[in-house]
Amino acid sequence: MIIVNNEYINFNKGLINFTAILLLIILIQSCKKDNENSQNNNISSTPTPYKVEIPKFFPTDIYIPSDNPLTNEGVELGRYLFYDGKLAGRNSPDSMMSCGTCHIQQYSFKNGKANAYGITGIKTPHTMLPLINLLWNPNTLLWNGKVGKIEDLIPMGITAPHELNTTISKAVDAIKKNPVYPSMFKKAFGTEEINIDRISKAIAQFVRTLISSNSKFDKYLRGEGNLTAEEMDGYSIFSSETGDCFHCHGTVLFTTNLFYNNAKDSVFTDTRDRYSITHNPSDIGAYVAPTLRNIELTAPYMHDGRFKTLEEVVDFYSEGLVRSLYVHPLMKKINQGGAQLTSTQKKNLILFLKTLTDNDFVTNPKYSKPTNY
Ligand code: HEC
Ligand code: HEC
Repeated sequence: MIIVNNEYINFNKGLINFTAILLLIILIQSCKKDNENSQNNNISSTPTPYKVEIPKFFPTDIYIPSDNPLTNEGVELGRYLFYDGKLAGRNSPDSMMSCGTCHIQQYSFKNGKANAYGITGIKTPHTMLPLINLLWNPNTLLWNGKVGKIEDLIPMGITAPHELNTTISKAVDAIKKNPVYPSMFKKAFGTEEINIDRISKAIAQFVRTLISSNSKFDKYLRGEGNLTAEEMDGYSIFSSETGDCFHCHGTVLFTTNLFYNNAKDSVFTDTRDRYSITHNPSDIGAYVAPTLRNIELTAPYMHDGRFKTLEEVVDFYSEGLVRSLYVHPLMKKINQGGAQLTSTQKKNLILFLKTLTDNDFVTNPKYSKPTNY
């Protein structure tokens, strides 16, 4: 169009020339407007990729399903849904329950209690697990690794009698009634449609952004701070054969995301251990070795919450191991009944474990309940 106008200008003079220039300006302006409009439309229907920053020294292998990339709009929608009691499909304010009812930020997204109870008061079969650094979990969720993707866990949580205890359609209908959502779904997924697949994807995106990497230990690793002599001693007990902890709890993530029988019992009756999934006898009495990040905040400990304090846990690993056919070979101190730590070593090991507490994580407003809905 501009080219046509140029020809026109060349061909004419005077007033015509002036009119042509005016026309040109109007045309350019309106083109600009069109452009801006179409850009605006794009913004509202194409979500912005969420920038994942891999903390220093963390593994670079992360797990994001190809059909659910993280986007700013998806993560924000997921945060709203994570904390929305309407997900329980009910209307009365006193019978609402969300993911955030049990997974509480100040307890590293556990609940600070021995047990968790679903909306009708039914106890969950195991204690809770924290929601930390699941971006690095290679699709083996829960104490026994039964569920792969976070997306798949959400419909299960909504319908489980010991969690939200509702139907998918009731949950989706209740979410549909909140007027904030249609535009948020449009921004995250392109259209206003609300369904369980999108709800699950958005919540999973939010959960994948829960990254804890700013503990005292992280700062020490990055050269931004020091550990005390006692904490350093605890670190070396943890990461050497003296304490024999690092084999299963790793460093940096402080979980290998693998399953072990860590010698707590000689009789195994739980029907939800790793064996119930693999039917491999070496998995009898085995559970995931959970991350030890924020461990100070997540008592009680083990899948059944049997230890109330870190002191009890360390006493167990020091002299409380129980023999059975199924103890994992990495429990190298089994023949001595435990690591046989001195009281100073125990104290220092616990001081080290407490350097894994990340106060920024448990207070980060990005992870907390939105206030405006
Ligand atoms: C009634 C309390 C309760 C509610 C509500 C609840 N959870 Fe959980 N969650 C648990 C418990 C207990 C576990 C550990 C279960 C197990 O492994 O046996 C768990 C485990 C998980 C895990 C696995 C963590 C890991 O490291 O493997 C994820 C992810 C999760 N929940 C996300 C959610 C989401 C998302 C919601 C909302 C849809 C939700 N939970 C609602 C209690 C709850
Ligand atoms: C053979 C692997 C293995 C070794 C070695 C090991 N652990 Fe564990 N640890 C586990 C497993 C598996 C669990 C969960 C068991 C369960 O819940 O029944 C666990 C649980 C824990 C828990 C409780 C976590 C929670 O969230 O409830 C703490 C704390 C812990 N271990 C600390 C240590 C320390 C400290 C050492 C070294 C003294 C150590 N572990 C050595 C495998 C191991």
